[in-house]
Amino acid sequence: MHSAASSPAPDWLAVPDDANDLVRSVWPASAQRSADGELIIAGMSAGELVRIHGTPLQVLDEGEVRRRATTLRDAFDTAAAKHGTTARVYYAGKALLNTTIVRWMLDEELNVDVCTGGELEVALLAGADAARLGFHGNNKSVNELERAVAVGVGTIIIDSEIEIERLAQIVARTGAEQRVMLRVNSGVHAETHDFLATAHEDQKFGFPLTQAAAAVARIRELPGLVFAGLHCHIGSQIFGVAGFRESAARVLDLHKDLLAGGDVPQLNLGGGFGIAYTRVDDPVPIAELAEGIVSAVAEACRRRGISIPALSFEPGRAIVGNAGVTLYEVGTTKDVALGSGSRRYVSVDGGMSDNARPALYGAQYSARIASRVSTAGPQLVRVVGRHCESGDIVVDHEYLPGDVAPGDLLAVAATGAYCAPLSSNYNHVPRPPIVAVRDGAARVIVHGESLSDLLTRDAGIAP
Ligand code: LLP
Repeated sequence: MHSAASSPAPDWLAVPDDANDLVRSVWPASAQRSADGELIIAGMSAGELVRIHGTPLQVLDEGEVRRRATTLRDAFDTAAAKHGTTARVYYAGKALLNTTIVRWMLDEELNVDVCTGGELEVALLAGADAARLGFHGNNKSVNELERAVAVGVGTIIIDSEIEIERLAQIVARTGAEQRVMLRVNSGVHAETHDFLATAHEDQKFGFPLTQAAAAVARIRELPGLVFAGLHCHIGSQIFGVAGFRESAARVLDLHKDLLAGGDVPQLNLGGGFGIAYTRVDDPVPIAELAEGIVSAVAEACRRRGISIPALSFEPGRAIVGNAGVTLYEVGTTKDVALGSGSRRYVSVDGGMSDNARPALYGAQYSARIASRVSTAGPQLVRVVGRHCESGDIVVDHEYLPGDVAPGDLLAVAATGAYCAPLSSNYNHVPRPPIVAVRDGAARVIVHGESLSDLLTRDAGIAP
């Protein structure tokens, strides 16, 4: 075995003092070790969860989801009140959507944002008042728009000129009145610690700022469409206020111009608040972020001599990301000699079918042995899945106790957002269940698939 010191670890990953530790910013607040070293989440041990539900298993800490939702809601309420306005928080359902989560959001007095007809139906089936829903999407079909208008979706966020005309025809036919916002593209792209402001836009979402005024004028002349304001989402996994400040400033120039033609009561600045996936991620506390964004908007409005509009935000990841933990079982390990040392590959019984983010975005994660603690020294590992694809990485770089072995349960942190929604059946691997844990009890909120579920789609198999 090669020592950790000679291993090909990336610069950002330090050798931990204890490769069993649970970094507070990454794991749910309820995560701890039992007396015998097992990982416990919301009072349920990893071993017990796996005995009942098997592996892979997506575990969601209900208390953590609710706490993060209320923290966001309260932070924006407080910041908005301080600056003389109101703020509404929409949970971005694309991060993780099922009827149970929608009910948690409604309990906590959040609104919900959906971006397809399918997501809309989930929110409605959960009992959401349609007035509390926002409906996004760059290619909403006529059917989807008809359904949204018919059920009374609170706000439809318009993304194209064609959509304006489609919606106008629907409201003309039905006599409905529909509140709409216009999604604009501020030219600001924010990602993690950096943001990039460009003059030109070359992407599919929203209207370039230069084309937005004409679109708003068109909306305003159409009976049945009620223009509520501008919407701008600048990206995901953003850690600072700077990108939001720059984007808001650009959008507020347009907002001010639009006031000449009528009311612009609202401004939606989207979501994208970053979370910790590894110990080096250091997101700004939510209250600080909310105050930073809202005060920047207030200041920008003051400078333009306009009153501050009602604000809305659409966080997804910041609500569910750190509440999710995926449990796997280790199947094989393998040391691969490299020039600079060696890397131990630890293969688990899931992979890119339940978490595509490392393969899609090079996303980094953190892992720990969940079934025990170990005194073995830290070993650099790459956790990989069971799929026929070399990019099938679960955790690119991590230190685990050096005796990690087949049969160990492995927990990967911060898998609550954009894992289940992006899951697939690649290699005929069924998707895992999602289990909510709270106060020492677990309940299935999304059923796992079986191989026979998959095979029912194969029209060549006799019924
Ligand atoms: N609002 C709009 C209009 C969005 O497009 C998104 C994310 C959100 C809100 C929520 O962003 P969040 O707060 O969750 O960052 N699959 C990628 C992320 C795609 C985000 C798509 N839109 C990932 O796994 O990183």
